[in-house]
Amino acid sequence: MYTSTLRLVCVSLLLCLSQSCYQCFVNVEDSLRLCWGHVLTEYNVRNVDACFEKLDRIFNNNETVIEAGRVGKGYDIQLKEILGAEILPLVEEFDQKLNNDTVYEQRLQTAADNFISAASKLPRVSGCIPPCGFQSAGAVYNCVTCQYDSCEFPLDCPVEEIKVMENSGIRMWCDVPFALPTDIEVIWRFAEEVETQQLDQFKEVTVGADRLYSIPSVTLQHQGTYQCEVYSGQLSLIRVYYYISVTPQVVAGHTELQETFDLSLLPGGQFFSASGDFLRSFLASLLPLLAACLTSLLLLVFLSLGVLHWSSIQEQSHAEETHQADDLGLF
Ligand SMILES: *[C@@H]1O[C@H](CO)[C@@H](O)[C@H](O)[C@H]1NC(C)=O
Ligand SMILES: *[C@@H]1O[C@H](CO)[C@@H](O)[C@H](O)[C@H]1NC(C)=O
Repeated sequence: MYTSTLRLVCVSLLLCLSQSCYQCFVNVEDSLRLCWGHVLTEYNVRNVDACFEKLDRIFNNNETVIEAGRVGKGYDIQLKEILGAEILPLVEEFDQKLNNDTVYEQRLQTAADNFISAASKLPRVSGCIPPCGFQSAGAVYNCVTCQYDSCEFPLDCPVEEIKVMENSGIRMWCDVPFALPTDIEVIWRFAEEVETQQLDQFKEVTVGADRLYSIPSVTLQHQGTYQCEVYSGQLSLIRVYYYISVTPQVVAGHTELQETFDLSLLPGGQFFSASGDFLRSFLASLLPLLAACLTSLLLLVFLSLGVLHWSSIQEQSHAEETHQADDLGLF
């Protein structure tokens, strides 16, 4: 009889694999003791299997119960205590005693209601930080699997685009929005030219603990997607992406000139009514020219002053000479 009961229990447990909070916290021995004296009133027979079906209906397949069990990290211990406080006294009370199914129904329903109201008060902050990465620490408890869910974000973060001027430096940080374990390994990879998240397009660049990747002087060959993947042990935790688009310096200078040219082509009045920014940059570009003009003008003034001075000296000495000659003539 006992073995056939056990077999029945196992069958019913197998049939209901999508079980929940009850099965996570109450062991099979206690459940067997609880259901031992379950009597079907209609037939006046003892039936343990029907009792297990009742447990499934009231606890395991009830969405409200499952929802109440979605507590934050560490609070599954409290869930176990709450459910134990409801079920274990019933186990002691019903063990080796016959009770009709109406009694079971009422007592178990009360236990479920009490569990829901107490468990709903427990903290349920998930701590999951979107949008990416394997965040084991941030999950809520799942009564269907008897485990904490992971945050269910993709490993791949969205690609962040960075524009850089040719010959300038760039620093990329493998920034992760959540706390990482201490034993991490960081692999930087590069996919030349393209913006991509396709893993087979990347070539490994560095392996180590360094979360910083820097290029002191960017060339056109540095354009492409950089991927940083963080591992803990063999487990991949996150993949961060940067798309670096390099602006060639020649083209940059050319574009600026073109803009200035276009602006100066504007019809008459609009030239000076152009934005203050343009006027300022225009004046700034004129400044060296003005300085050069002024310098040469000053030079010219000094030079002519010098010449004037020199010629006046010449004249004076000439006058002296004639004066001397006149004096000599007197002798
Ligand atoms: C789930 O349980 C709650 C509380 O015990 C109850 O009010 C609700 O009707 C149940 N839902 C289903 C679908 O049985
Ligand atoms: C079930 O048992 C309770 C308590 O023993 C009793 O009051 C009730 O009438 C019974 N119900 C049925 C349907 O036999």
